[in-house]
Amino acid sequence: MEVNKEITELYLSSSSSSPIPTFTTRWWSKDTVAMVTGANKGIGFSLVNQLAQLGLTVILTARDVEKGNRAVELLKSHGLHVHFYRLDVSDPASIKTFALWFQKKFGVLDILINNAAVSFNDIYENSVDHAEIVIKTNFYGVKLLTETLLPMFRRSDSISRILNISSRLGSINKMRNPKMKEMLLNEGLSAQEIEGMVNLFLENVRDGTWKNQGWPEIWTDYAVSKLALNAYSRVLAKQYEDFGLISVNCFCPGFTQTSMTSGKGTHTAEDAAEIGARLALLPPGELPTGKFYIGFNPGVISKL
Ligand SMILES: NC(=O)c1ccc[n+]([C@@H]2O[C@H](COP(=O)([O-])OP(=O)(O)OC[C@H]3O[C@@H](n4cnc5c(N)ncnc54)[C@H](OP(=O)(O)O)[C@@H]3O)[C@@H](O)[C@H]2O)c1
Repeated sequence: MEVNKEITELYLSSSSSSPIPTFTTRWWSKDTVAMVTGANKGIGFSLVNQLAQLGLTVILTARDVEKGNRAVELLKSHGLHVHFYRLDVSDPASIKTFALWFQKKFGVLDILINNAAVSFNDIYENSVDHAEIVIKTNFYGVKLLTETLLPMFRRSDSISRILNISSRLGSINKMRNPKMKEMLLNEGLSAQEIEGMVNLFLENVRDGTWKNQGWPEIWTDYAVSKLALNAYSRVLAKQYEDFGLISVNCFCPGFTQTSMTSGKGTHTAEDAAEIGARLALLPPGELPTGKFYIGFNPGVISKL
């Protein structure tokens, strides 16, 4: 406990040029339950590490049991205890099994960090050969997991929170199709319309017309998946806005040195996760909803 206190103080005193606030209040306790998807490596692993250091109860999930166990052991060797359960977000059966285990073991959830994602392109490549799995993992996986876990959120005064790790490649300004852009900007946007958008994209991929339809130009399948994720986060944030007990925000960690970028990037996964952890742990009085935090040093905060 003493170690956790020291770490919190370290965070509190760290200065940053980012508009993302630093910790001001330690509102959480060891009974605060947080889970992170795709956490055997990269930003997800570092998020688990930071949340565990800060003294929360953390569930590390990964689609591969061996990799997940290895990550847990690594944390253990540094004196950190986290829980592990297998979760493949692209597989509805795995989501169901996870949710049953979670409900039995913990019952309530305070923080959900949807981090797991895939991209099959090298940095300057733009193949859509794996578009189906990209959309299934990065959009439908997050949507189904979130909807399955929504009834388990504690909804206390400390406010349950969902932080979706997204990408600036999924910003609305990357969409060049005017009809789609108008739909995405519409205040009355629905989850069904977002699904319609991704299904149209997949249809364009199948019939080979995707290059001429105004979809985002860089990492097109990944960008569409994150566009859909951002749009869905906005719809969800709006849905829960009036109740005030669940907040939904997105965070783009910027160009980070992980497997997804073949180790290239301007900063480490730890740097990105430090900001992610701060966002996930904003004090209830300072926690917004429906926001998109883009990068850091300096970062931008926009409406989703
Ligand atoms: N790195 C960047 O520059 C960057 C920039 C913007 C946004 N992001 C976002 O940051 C998040 C973390 O990415 P990262 O950079 O840390 O990449 P990463 O090192 O490749 O990590 C991705 C994680 O997601 C897991 N995953 C993939 N498919 C999954 C599935 N179906 N079910 C469960 N887990 C699955 C991977 O597991 P395996 O080890 O089994 O593959 C891995 O643990 C992603 O949402 C990504 O889109 C990254």
